Amino acid sequence: MNISVIGAGQMGNGIAHVFAQGGHTVTLIDIAQDRLDKALATIARNMDRQVAKGGLTEDHKQAALGRITTATELSSGVKNAELVVEAATENVDLKLKIFQDIDAGAPAGCILATNTSSISITRIAAATRRPGEVIGMHFMNPVPVMKLVEVIRGYSTTDVVTARIMDLSRAIGKVPVEVNDQAGFVSNRILMPMINEAIETLFQGIGGVAEIDTVMKLGMAHPMGPLQLADFIGLDTCLAILRVLHEGFGNPKYAPCPLLVQMVTAGKLGVKSGEGFYTYSGGSKDLVVAPAFAK
Ligand code: CAA
Repeated sequence: MNISVIGAGQMGNGIAHVFAQGGHTVTLIDIAQDRLDKALATIARNMDRQVAKGGLTEDHKQAALGRITTATELSSGVKNAELVVEAATENVDLKLKIFQDIDAGAPAGCILATNTSSISITRIAAATRRPGEVIGMHFMNPVPVMKLVEVIRGYSTTDVVTARIMDLSRAIGKVPVEVNDQAGFVSNRILMPMINEAIETLFQGIGGVAEIDTVMKLGMAHPMGPLQLADFIGLDTCLAILRVLHEGFGNPKYAPCPLLVQMVTAGKLGVKSGEGFYTYSGGSKDLVVAPAFAK
């Protein structure tokens, strides 16, 4: 299948990776060539890990990398696509504009999927002339590792399109789960209030960063504590999702913790900016609590 992936950030490069590994031809699209070059280098590095662990052969890796091309123009990048997966920043106006452009440039019959983590599929679909062919395909980070794809049906998404995306997800080794279209869907409706509550618990001085994460890691067998996970997802992304939940349900229980708002305003975005609840100058393996939270 010819698949175009829009956005070469951490989700976009992971999505391009798993489709190329699954035998599909991928066009990775971003406005900046340097972001595309960086994404290709990340994909190669992540495939190297799989080769080192015996999950992929060097030949398969080379073949998969050979199936990925890049484009800086959206119209040329989607013109032969059978599926487009949008993985741009979590900003509704940006996504609506991108979907209008994809709709104008992609051939008839092409399925338009979004990797949005919380924005209404129905709203995105309404920006196109093919709402029946618009669907949510929500991958989890790190995409090559996490098995889940949350498949979200918008109000108009057809059964045929849903079945094709469920089948495609299975064919690339993922486990798709079909859900309906409400703010945050299932994943972030449950995950983000937990992360927000962890930040609120820190804000109120009930526990420190390491203590909160240790309680959840050792007490609830989470692979990462909620504050480390927030850094990993990106604090700006967490804030954007909480705002969608808060606005979508009009319920104050989703109001983002003031500490989260302040950290994003200060540019402390987690792993991607080098500091959030932890610092990442020495890589993300050895967790060092950020100076602002050190005791
Ligand atoms: N590409 C390929 N392989 C990768 C990888 C990547 N980007 N990142 C990690 N791996 C592989 C490693 O090579 C390793 O492979 P083996 O099991 O074969 O040895 C395996 O994944 C585990 O990695 P590590 O040993 O380096 O590290 P770890 O054991 O600490 O696990 C983790 C890392 C998988 C990220 C784990 O900490 C984890 O599961 N964290 C929680 C992740 C999570 O909750 N993700 C969902 C976030 S929410 C989201 O994405 C959606 C949203 O809308 C916000």
